[in-house]
Amino acid sequence: MSVHIFVTRELFPEVTEQLKQYGQVTIGARDRDLSREELLKGVRGKDAILCMLTDRIDAEVMDACPGLRVISNYAVGYNNIDVVEATKRGIPVTNTPDVLTEATADLTWALLLDVARRVTEGDRLTRSGRWQGWGPRFMLGKDVYGSTLGIVGFGRIGRAVARRAQAFDMRVLYYSRTRLTPQEENRLGVVYQPLHELLAKADFVSLHAPYTPETHHLIGEAELRRMKRTAYLINTARGPLVDERALVRALQEGEIAGAGLDVYEDEPRLAEGLAELEQVVLAPHLGSATWETRMKMAKLAAENLLSVLRGEKPPHLVNP
Ligand code: DGY
Repeated sequence: MSVHIFVTRELFPEVTEQLKQYGQVTIGARDRDLSREELLKGVRGKDAILCMLTDRIDAEVMDACPGLRVISNYAVGYNNIDVVEATKRGIPVTNTPDVLTEATADLTWALLLDVARRVTEGDRLTRSGRWQGWGPRFMLGKDVYGSTLGIVGFGRIGRAVARRAQAFDMRVLYYSRTRLTPQEENRLGVVYQPLHELLAKADFVSLHAPYTPETHHLIGEAELRRMKRTAYLINTARGPLVDERALVRALQEGEIAGAGLDVYEDEPRLAEGLAELEQVVLAPHLGSATWETRMKMAKLAAENLLSVLRGEKPPHLVNP
C-alpha cells in the first residue's frame, strides 16, 4: 500500500518529485499559511507530514492523523512541534540544522551592520526627498570594527557569527548553558561570561539560543536595563526570546541604542510602537532565506522524512 505524504506548503518541484518517488504527495498551500482547520483536515489519513515553522503540530494534529509515522520540520528550530507528545506516541520528529547556519549568520551580520551604521534609516531618508546633504555630524552611527560582541547561545549559528567577528577585530563574549573547554575558547577566540555580565559589557548582543519554556523572555525589562545605553540588540533566533513590549519601551526611553530584528513574538504582527521607531531594522524572518539554503533545507527535510519511512534512522532526529 502506498504511503501518503502531506507537505503543508509548496517547496521546490524537484523535492516534490523526490517525495513522489516514494508515495502520494498532497501540498497544503502554494503561497500562504494553512488555517488551523485546513491543517487538521489536510493531515487526515497521512503517514508523514513535512511542515513549516508556522504550523503548530500538537496533540490535536496528531489525533487527526492516527497513522502518522514522521513529522519533518522545514527549519532548525522546532518549537512549533510538541516533541514530548510526539515522543509519547513514538513519532519521530526531525529538523534541518547545519545547512542554514551560514545564511543565518550572514543575516545576523546584515542586521548588525545595518542598525549600527543606520543604512535602512538612511535609505528611508534618501528616498523621502528630505535629505539635505552631507554634514559633519549627520547620521552618525557606531563603529563595529574593534567593538565588543556578546553572543547569547553558542551553538552552530552563534559560532558562525563569532567566526565572522574576527574579521572585524571584535572582542567576542559568549553565554551558553554549557561552557566550552578553555582550549576551545582559545581556538575560537571567545570569552565566557554569565549572561548579566555579557549584557553589561557588549556593544552588540546577538541572540542564538533555541526557544524553549526556559528561554521564554530571556531578554526582558531587567536584562535590557543591564545593557549599555549605546548597545544594540540583534535577534535572528526566535521572537519570544525577547519581551517585545519591554524592548519597545527600552528603545523609546533610550535604554539601548537600537535593535536589528528578524523574528517577532507573534509573527507577522509586531508589538505596538515597534514599527514607529527609527533606530530599529525589521526584517521579515529572512534568516535562512536564500535560494541555496532553502533548497538544501528542503532536500534535508525530504531526506529526513523518507529515511523514517524506509525504516532508517533519519539524519536529524530531535526526539530525546
Ligand atoms: C529556522 O530554521 O528555525 C529558521 O528560523 C528558518 O528561517
